[in-house]
Formats: sequence, structure tokens, C-alpha cells
Amino acid sequence: MAKTAEIFTFLIISAAMAAAPSLAASLVTFVFGDSLTEVGNNNYLQLSLAKSNYPFYGVDYIGGKPTGRFTNGRTIGDIISSKLGIPSPPPYLSLAPNDDALVQGVNYASGGAGILNDTGLYFIQRLTFDDQINNFKKTKESIEAKIGEEAANKLCNQAVYFIGLGSNDYVNNFLQPFLADGQQYTHDEFLGLLISTLGGQLTRLHQLGARKMIFHGLGPLGCIPSQRVKSSRGQCLKQVNLWVQQFNYNVQKLIATLNKHLPSAEISFADTYQAVFDLIDNPTAFGFKVSNTSCCNVDTQLGGLCIPNSKVCNNHSEYVFWDAFHPSDAANEVLAEKLFAKIFSPAPSAAPLAFP
Ligand SMILES: *[C@@H]1O[C@H](CO)[C@@H](O)[C@H](O)[C@H]1NC(C)=O
Ligand SMILES: *[C@@H]1O[C@H](CO)[C@@H](O)[C@H](O)[C@H]1NC(C)=O
Ligand SMILES: *[C@@H]1O[C@H](CO)[C@@H](O)[C@H](O)[C@H]1NC(C)=O
Repeated sequence: MAKTAEIFTFLIISAAMAAAPSLAASLVTFVFGDSLTEVGNNNYLQLSLAKSNYPFYGVDYIGGKPTGRFTNGRTIGDIISSKLGIPSPPPYLSLAPNDDALVQGVNYASGGAGILNDTGLYFIQRLTFDDQINNFKKTKESIEAKIGEEAANKLCNQAVYFIGLGSNDYVNNFLQPFLADGQQYTHDEFLGLLISTLGGQLTRLHQLGARKMIFHGLGPLGCIPSQRVKSSRGQCLKQVNLWVQQFNYNVQKLIATLNKHLPSAEISFADTYQAVFDLIDNPTAFGFKVSNTSCCNVDTQLGGLCIPNSKVCNNHSEYVFWDAFHPSDAANEVLAEKLFAKIFSPAPSAAPLAFP
């Protein structure tokens, strides 16, 4: 699936590699996303309830300290950056408005964020995708002030944009029975709203100079511990997984349309649904022991994050999930490995877009 998209990505990165003697010095990445990619923006939002800057988050990160990453160690983005030989871009809110570091890439991701503005509303503060794009606009203006308009446009055209949003639009919006969207819309209507909003957002990023965008599709959300507890025997929620696959399919159609209509757009879709599903379905095949509950013994009635008085499993690497929502460092390693291979290997057999 999405083989055409993979070819695009391969071309992008190989072009970036060919353009300069050292990829490390040349590749600028801008990251947009939610708690799966956040590296600490929410630490700066005083009132945000979507925070992970306390133990045991970060217990396996460099220094063993919480950073605002929603896992025990590294995110998939951290691991991909390190494979690319570049530093993982810093959180936008950690940088001064005219910081020189802005030209080397920025991470705008924020736990609780979604495609829709009202997603994650009950976290009080989070940077929605629209907020993140507004912050990127400010970044671009700062870069222009530093290196001039022409060079700034070139930098933005050549940068790679990693975008991963949508999980919270389900988990912290549509699937919450007490919120309006799940009551007001059928899934088809909600999906239509997500896709049209996302189309506008990707178009806006393109207007701001983004060309090489990689959209990270959703994983099987019906199998994350916070959803499993809603089933009778701790199994995956099939309906949720079906909806997520519909979302992924429709995003791929959207991307194909955008690539046709937006000049020089090279948007690709990184599909990790199956890879995550396989890891959850057969953890032992990947060296894990448990995938149906989290290493940190969380209270899913109280949100499902790993709070300081939680009990944590002995061997963190035996668990696919760290808390009720987020994979462990060990699982991120496996998933980043697969994603990286997908992004960097040319896909010779172009398969047609097919809905599973
Ligand atoms: C969402 O918020 C952004 C920024 O605050 C705003 O520009 C946009 O119009 C809002 N979108 C909707 C659909 O309300
Ligand atoms: C996870 O699976 C194991 C083995 O199949 C089972 O014994 C256990 O009860 C399950 N745990 C949950 C929380 O569903
Ligand atoms: C922890 O679990 C991982 C994965 O199963 C295993 O490779 C490792 O040896 C274990 N570590 C310890 C200290 O038991």
C-alpha cells in the first residue's frame, strides 16, 4: 500500500543527500504532531493537563530525566533523527523568537493536539495543528529576518516536514461519549470533516513553503490499552481499527489529490498501521512479552498517563506499551527501524491504492 508515496519520499531524501556532502549539515526537519512526537512544548504551557514532565517519564532517556516526551525513552522521531545523523529538533517553545537554532529545524508537536481545534479541549492548553502551523509561520518570518527572503524560501522548500496527527481526534474527541463531536456526527461525517480540515492545513503549509511532507498514518488505536479496557475481555476494538484504516485510506487519497494540484508538492504517506498491529498481535516475535497492557500500571479511569506513584514493570523492554496510549522506547526502536527502512528503500513494485 502507498508505494507511490514511498517512492516520492525516497526521491526527496536521496535528493537531499545528493545536494550536500554531509546530510547532517544539510537536512532541516520541521516536526508537527501530538504526544507521539512531542519533545517538551507542553512544559511551557502553564495550564496544560497533557504533560509528562514528571517521573517515570524519561526514566530510560539520556540522564534518566523527564523531558516532556510521553514515553520512558526516545520517540520514533528521536530515533529517526539519530539515524539521519541530525539532532532531534528542539521544542518550539524552548526557543527565543529570534533564536539562531530556528534555521536548523524545530519540533512544534504538542500532547493532546489534533487536526481539529476542539480536539483535546479538556487538556485546557495544547497546540493544535492550526497553532503549530501559525508557529511555523513565525519561524519562517524569523528565518527571513536572519538570512533574507530568498534563502528562507529555499530553506523551507528543501526542508522535510514530518506530520503525525489524528490519533487525538479519535481518542480524545470522537471516541469520548461525553463530547459533542461523537454525538453530533456519524463516522463518515466526522471523517469528512477531518479530511477537509487536513487538506486546508497541508495546503497552508505548502503556501508557507513546505514541499516535502511526510504524513505519518494512524496505528491500530483500537488495540492501545486505553481502548482495550472498554472491551469485555481486553481485546482490540475492531470498529475503532476499521475507522482508523478508513482515515488512513482517505488521507492517502487526499495526498494524491494535493500532489496533483499543489505546484512542486511531494507529499507522502508513511503507513505504519500493519507494523504496529504485527507488534501488538505477536509481541514475542519481536522480543517483547506483553502488548495488551502497559509497563506502567496506569489508571485508565483517570486518564491513563504514568503518574509518579504508579507501579512500573521490572523490565521496560518487555512491554510494547509504556502507558495506556504510548509505546515504550523499545517498541519505538522497532517501529522507527521499520519506518526508516520504508522511507529510505526505493519501492520497485508500485501497488495500487487499496482499501483493506
Ligand atoms: C482553529 O483555530 C485557528 C487558530 O486559532 C483558526 O485560525 C482557525 O480558523 C480555527 N478553525 C476553525 C475551524 O475554527
Ligand atoms: C493479557 O494477555 C494475557 C495472556 O494472554 C492474559 O493472561 C492477561 O489477562 C491479559 N491482560 C489484560 C489486561 O487483558
Ligand atoms: C529485558 O527484556 C528484554 C526483552 O525481552 C531482554 O532482551 C533483556 O535481556 C531483559 N533484561 C533483563 C535485565 O532481564
